[in-house]
Formats: sequence, C-alpha cells, structure tokens
Amino acid sequence: MSKVFVNISLSLDGFMAPEGMDMAHFSDPTYKNWGAKWGALMAWALSQQYLREKLKLGTGGETGPVNDMVRHTFERTGAHIMGKRMFEGGERGWPEEAPFHTPVYVLTHERRNPWVRPGGTTFYFVNDGPEQALALAREAAGERDIRISGGANVIQQYLNLGLVDELEIALIPVIFGGGRRLFENLHEPLPQFRIDRVLASPTATHLRYVRL
Ligand SMILES: NC(=O)c1ccc[n+]([C@@H]2O[C@H](COP(=O)([O-])OP(=O)(O)OC[C@H]3O[C@@H](n4cnc5c(N)ncnc54)[C@H](OP(=O)(O)O)[C@@H]3O)[C@@H](O)[C@H]2O)c1
Repeated sequence: MSKVFVNISLSLDGFMAPEGMDMAHFSDPTYKNWGAKWGALMAWALSQQYLREKLKLGTGGETGPVNDMVRHTFERTGAHIMGKRMFEGGERGWPEEAPFHTPVYVLTHERRNPWVRPGGTTFYFVNDGPEQALALAREAAGERDIRISGGANVIQQYLNLGLVDELEIALIPVIFGGGRRLFENLHEPLPQFRIDRVLASPTATHLRYVRL
C-alpha cells in the first residue's frame, strides 16, 4: 500500500512558520521580519537544481544527494493533503502552474468547487475530516505515496491518528523564537519513530524517521 509521509522544513527551535506570517501580513514581509525568516527556512530547497527547474527559477543549482532526494520526493508523490492556512498563502504566492502536479486535498470548513490549475494540479476542498481526505488521496495516488504537505495543524491531526508512516524533516540552523510549532497538541499514544537516515549538508540536516 502507498505510504503516507510528511516532508517539511523546520527551524532549529521547532517552528514550521515564523510569527507574523499570516494572511493579515502577507504583503508586508518586514512585519516581525517574517519574510527573511521564511526565506532562511526555504533557502536550502530553492538552491536545488531540480526545484529550480520545477519552479522555473532559472538554470543552475546544486546537484548531488540532496537534489536527488528532492527529486525522489516529488516523483514518489501521487497526491497531496494540506490545510486551509497553507493553501491560502499558496493561493497568493504560487505561480499559475502550482508546484504539485497531482490532486491536492485541502482540509477546510469552506465549501468550494475544485480549482484546476495548469500542469496537472487540482485542488479539492474536503469538509469531511482528515480520514476522508486520506481516503480520497489514496484513491487518486494509486501506487504512489501521499504527502501530508502541512501546515502544522494538519500534520498534528495525522500524527494523532497514527497515520504518518514517514516523517522527513529538513532541520535548518535558524532560530525563529516563535511561530507555528510542529510538535504540539499531540496526545497519547504518541507516535513512535526510528531513525532511518541522516543526510547532512551545510544548509540543512535532513532527518528521515520511519514509524515503529
Ligand atoms: N516549513 C514547512 O515546510 C511548511 C510546510 C507547509 C506549510 N508551512 C506553513 O505552515 C503555515 C500553516 O500552518 P497552520 O498550522 O497554521 O495551518 P494549516 O494546517 O495549513 O491549516 C489549518 C486550517 O485548515 C482547516 N482545517 C484543518 N483541519 C481541518 C478539518 N479536520 N476539518 C476542516 N477544516 C480543517 C482549518 O481552516 P478553516 O476552518 O478556515 O477551513 C484550519 O484552521 C503556513 O504559514 C505555511 O506556509 C510550512
């Protein structure tokens, strides 16, 4: 059966997004310096050749094991699941050809028709909870895997349901001091993982955990 995995970037002090990075301040990245902090969190990824090509950021970029890992992550993914807060930021920030190229299931209370983007990405808005979103994603993904894209709220729900098979964290040497914390709101029985791989680079430590 296909795997359910998380693959995110995390600040050294455990935040997925800096304080101030919200819709009210989306057009003011100087607010609480959120723009620079987010840039520092994502810099490792945006310097990989594969992602630069995918996001049409230009030629060049790093090749090597981290780039191969990024390519593998995209190629294995047959469907994405995300929360409404992540979607809202992306709706304003992603290029017209959104960088998913699969069905994307957005957990939300909002009722909305599917939003089709060029390049194979369609956003479906799911009002029936995380298990229903996963059932739809599994069906769409076929043999491929399902990526729980984020944000923190949605990842916490899947961790609490015991449904995350693999947890991949790019730990970035930047300290946010506040923001959207990944590991909170978790309850017993807490998920248990073993270390599967550690890949060190000058800009990130790539940690891969597999569920026990
Ligand atoms: N560091 C990384 O790699 C990374 C990756 C992804 C995202 N992020 C960042 O994470 C931040 C967003 O994370 P977040 O934790 O604030 O929010 P989120 O998980 O993206 O979205 C939470 C929202 O989704 C909706 N939702 C979630 N579960 C639901 C359910 N079961 N039923 C119905 N609706 C549900 C609710 O919105 P409504 O009630 O309004 O519908 C809820 O407030 C963004 O800043 C994003 O950029 C970072």
